Amino acid sequence: MKVLVYGSGGRDHCLADKYGDSQHVDKVFFSPGNPGVLRTPKGREDRKLIDLVRLRDFGEVTDFCLVHGVDLVDVGSENPLGDGLIDALNTKGIRTVGPRMEYVKIESDRAFTDDLLRRIGVPKPQYQVFADPDGAQKYVRNIGYQVVVKANGLAAGKGAIVCDDVPDALAAIDRIMIEKVFGESGDRVVIEERKYGTEISFFAYLDGEHVLPLKMFAQDYKRAFDPDDTAPIEQFGGNPNTGGTGCYCPHKLVSPWLVNRIIKEIVNPTINEIYNHLGWQYKGVLYFGLNLDPYNNLDVFEINVRHGDPEWEVLARKLSTDLFEIGMAVWEGTLDQVKQAWNNQYYVDVIAMEGRSKASRGWNKGYPGRYGKGHRIIGLDEMERGIAIYFAGVDEVKAKGLVTFGGRVLHVLAGDPTLEGAREKAYRNIKKLAFVDHNNNGENCLRFRQTIGL
Ligand code: GLY
Repeated sequence: MKVLVYGSGGRDHCLADKYGDSQHVDKVFFSPGNPGVLRTPKGREDRKLIDLVRLRDFGEVTDFCLVHGVDLVDVGSENPLGDGLIDALNTKGIRTVGPRMEYVKIESDRAFTDDLLRRIGVPKPQYQVFADPDGAQKYVRNIGYQVVVKANGLAAGKGAIVCDDVPDALAAIDRIMIEKVFGESGDRVVIEERKYGTEISFFAYLDGEHVLPLKMFAQDYKRAFDPDDTAPIEQFGGNPNTGGTGCYCPHKLVSPWLVNRIIKEIVNPTINEIYNHLGWQYKGVLYFGLNLDPYNNLDVFEINVRHGDPEWEVLARKLSTDLFEIGMAVWEGTLDQVKQAWNNQYYVDVIAMEGRSKASRGWNKGYPGRYGKGHRIIGLDEMERGIAIYFAGVDEVKAKGLVTFGGRVLHVLAGDPTLEGAREKAYRNIKKLAFVDHNNNGENCLRFRQTIGL
C-alpha cells in the first residue's frame, strides 16, 4: 500500500514515520514535507524511506495520488483541512483520513463549539463571546474572576492568552482585537473563566458512525519557559503560550477510571451531537483539550480536528496498533473492529526551539516571539540509537546543510521503561544539539524547557 501524508511539521513527520511502520505499507510519500525527514535515524537503517514530494497545490496533490496509485492520504494539520483538501481528494475518489472542510469549524470557530458544548451539557468553563473590543473590555473589568482571552479562529495553538488580572486581560484584548496579532482569527474573542489543574490531551478517531477513543493520553507543556526561568520571562514580558514545548506519556493521571469518565462525560455526548444532530459524517481524529481541577472536575478547553503536536509524537511511539489499519477503518467505517494496543514504555518529547539570537539590527526574542532563521543545526550525528528526531521548522541550504526555519525546530523523543529514564535520555541527547548563531560568534541559540515530564 502507498500512503501520502500531507503536512510539514513534527506531527506530520511522525505520522509518515508511523505509517512506515505498518506491515501493509511499502511506500510513504510526504508533502510538502521538510528536508529533515530524509535523514535516516540511527538504529533504524532498515526503515522504508519516506519520499519527499513538493506538491504546490491541491490539484497537484490529487494528480500525484492518481498517477502514483496512492491508497490513503492522511492530512495532518488544520489549515489544509480548512482549505478543503479532503473534499478535493474525495471528489476524485481518493481515500482519506481527515474531516471535510465544513467540519473544521469545530476547531476554527471556538464560539460555535463552546455553544455546542453548553447546549449538550458537556462541562466547560464560563465564557462569553465578543465581536467588539469595548464590550470585551467592559466585561473583563466587571466579572470578578481571572480569565483567558482567546482568539475565536485558528492561531497555530497560540491563540489563548492566560491572564492574571484585569490589566493583563485588557492588554490581551488589545493584542487580539486591535493589533490583530492573529489576523482575522481575532475578529471575535472568547473570554473564558481561567481554570487551575492539570491539562489533558485526549484523542478519539471517528469513522462517520463509530468512535475509537484512545485509552491513553498525554500532557503538553504550553508555556514558553519553565516557571522559574525568571530572567528570560522578564525579558519576554511574561511567559507566553506556545504551540507546545514538549510532552510526556503516559500522563500521570491515566487510569481506567479517568479514561471512562472522559469518554462518558465528554467524548460520547459530543460525538453523539456531531453524528446524530449536526448530521456530520466526520472521518478523522478529534482532539479534546481538557482540564482536571483539584476537585476532580473535568472541563473542555477546546476541540481540534487533528492530532496535537507534540502529543501525537509520544502517543504514536506508544501505540502498538498498526496506523494503516486505523486509517483504513476511519475511511471504511469499521473502527468498531479495531483493537487498540499500547506498549509498556514511557516517552518524553522535548522540543528544540529557536531561542534568543542576534538579528542584523538588535535581537530576536525567540519563539513564540520573533525568531531568527537559517541557523546551522549541529550535533544530529551524535544522537544515540533509538532516539527519534521529528523535524518541524527546518530547511536545507547548500552551504550549511540543515538549518532552522521555524520557531519549533525539531523534537527529540526518547522511550524507556521508566519516566525518569525517558527524561534522562531525551535531555542527554538534546544537549548534544546546537543552532549556530552566525551573527553572534557562533553562540548556540537553541532553547528548550527543562521540566518536561516532571
Ligand atoms: N499541542 C497543542 C496543539 O497541538 O494545539
